[in-house]
Amino acid sequence: MATSTRVSVVWLLALIAGLISPTIAQTWTECNPLERDDCRPNPALGTNYTYDFTGLLNPAVWNTTAGEVINGKKGGEFTIRERLQSPTIQSHFYIFFGRLEVHMKAATGQGIVSSVVIQSEDLDEIDWEWVGSEQGSVQTNYFGKGNDTTFDRGKKHDVNDPMHSIHNYTILWTAEKLEWWVDENLIRTLKYEEAEGGKFYPQTPSTVRLGIWPAGDEGNRAGTIEWAGGKVDYSNGPYTMIVERLMVEDFHKGKEYVYGDNSGDWQSIKVIDGVSDVSKEATKPPPKSLSQKWAELSAGTKGGIFIGIAAFVGLILAIIAFCCIKQRRAGRKEFNNENSKFVTEQTSNMALRTQWNHKYRQVGG
Ligand SMILES: *[C@@H]1O[C@H](CO)[C@@H](O)[C@H](O)[C@H]1NC(C)=O
Ligand SMILES: *[C@@H]1O[C@H](CO)[C@@H](O)[C@H](O)[C@H]1NC(C)=O
Ligand SMILES: *[C@@H]1O[C@H](CO)[C@@H](O)[C@H](O)[C@H]1NC(C)=O
Ligand SMILES: *[C@@H]1O[C@H](CO)[C@@H](O)[C@H](O)[C@H]1NC(C)=O
Repeated sequence: MATSTRVSVVWLLALIAGLISPTIAQTWTECNPLERDDCRPNPALGTNYTYDFTGLLNPAVWNTTAGEVINGKKGGEFTIRERLQSPTIQSHFYIFFGRLEVHMKAATGQGIVSSVVIQSEDLDEIDWEWVGSEQGSVQTNYFGKGNDTTFDRGKKHDVNDPMHSIHNYTILWTAEKLEWWVDENLIRTLKYEEAEGGKFYPQTPSTVRLGIWPAGDEGNRAGTIEWAGGKVDYSNGPYTMIVERLMVEDFHKGKEYVYGDNSGDWQSIKVIDGVSDVSKEATKPPPKSLSQKWAELSAGTKGGIFIGIAAFVGLILAIIAFCCIKQRRAGRKEFNNENSKFVTEQTSNMALRTQWNHKYRQVGG
């Protein structure tokens, strides 16, 4: 109940965003530092972070803000099976300029949009978007301070089969310029001054977001459905975007980023020294598989484990033997009684013989 409510709230927000702009600005933030002075500091990544999506998502690093991501053999699976589904994750960490490299393939499906987004609390945004029915291209876009009125932000670029082959989508983001790369090809550059003299250039600490959403849902605005290539046919699904891995590099080092005023200018951002908890979590080595752990053991330890296993097998055999003994105890008891009688007799015979020998020797000697 709680999950489905949350999903529809997120989806509704996306829907509202869709009402405002055909290319989607995520127009919602918990606390906009352009309007308020009491927003919480943004925990910094402050370093490099790699994530291989075949391993489980660390909830201390990522917030699953809608739906669920499945960690499959080929990577993280973001799947739409039914109406209102839009699995999305968002980093708890922020980067303040940096590099984001995502190795992935987008989802097919008319009206289905796969996305990789860098977004700040004052709604600066850098996007990759794949429209499911456009199987030979990717779209790039950006927003500054949530303003979506300026011209020529969104662009479309040719990519070879982005829905069936993994490509390396890299964003290089500095104070001077933004670059979008597909594999080894630079496909777009945006200079600071080109975004309304820098005013609408993305320049504030941002989270990383990955997700898939049904932009062409019949409940959405006509313009949005059109941009998404038409209405979603849910019966033709499921529609899955697969992310193999990503690499994030934060170009600042610190514990957190704080807005110094309401300007939204990068020069106003204060970098607080230290290391954030989320950064500690992000740089922790990933949990190891059993075979990896085994491979790392020394020969001595492995030998010890074999001895341990042998001892364990021995113990099991002893327990089995003990059970048999117990079952046969009655019979054994009888046997023992007979046996002890026999031994007693033997012993007395021996004693007699000794005495006899003794005598014989005395006589004979
Ligand atoms: C982060 O990765 C880049 C390569 O992309 C490397 O040049 C840099 O030294 C790394 N930084 C840290 C702190 O490991
Ligand atoms: C995670 O995302 C949900 C949904 O957007 C939000 O309500 C929640 O506050 C987020 N949690 C954290 C720790 O940011
Ligand atoms: C967006 O920017 C344009 C151009 O500077 C401006 O006219 C418009 O009022 C801005 N819109 C908002 C919502 O800030
Ligand atoms: C991904 O692409 C970027 C930009 O071309 C490049 O710098 C980086 O080395 C590539 N990553 C891999 C793993 O090839």
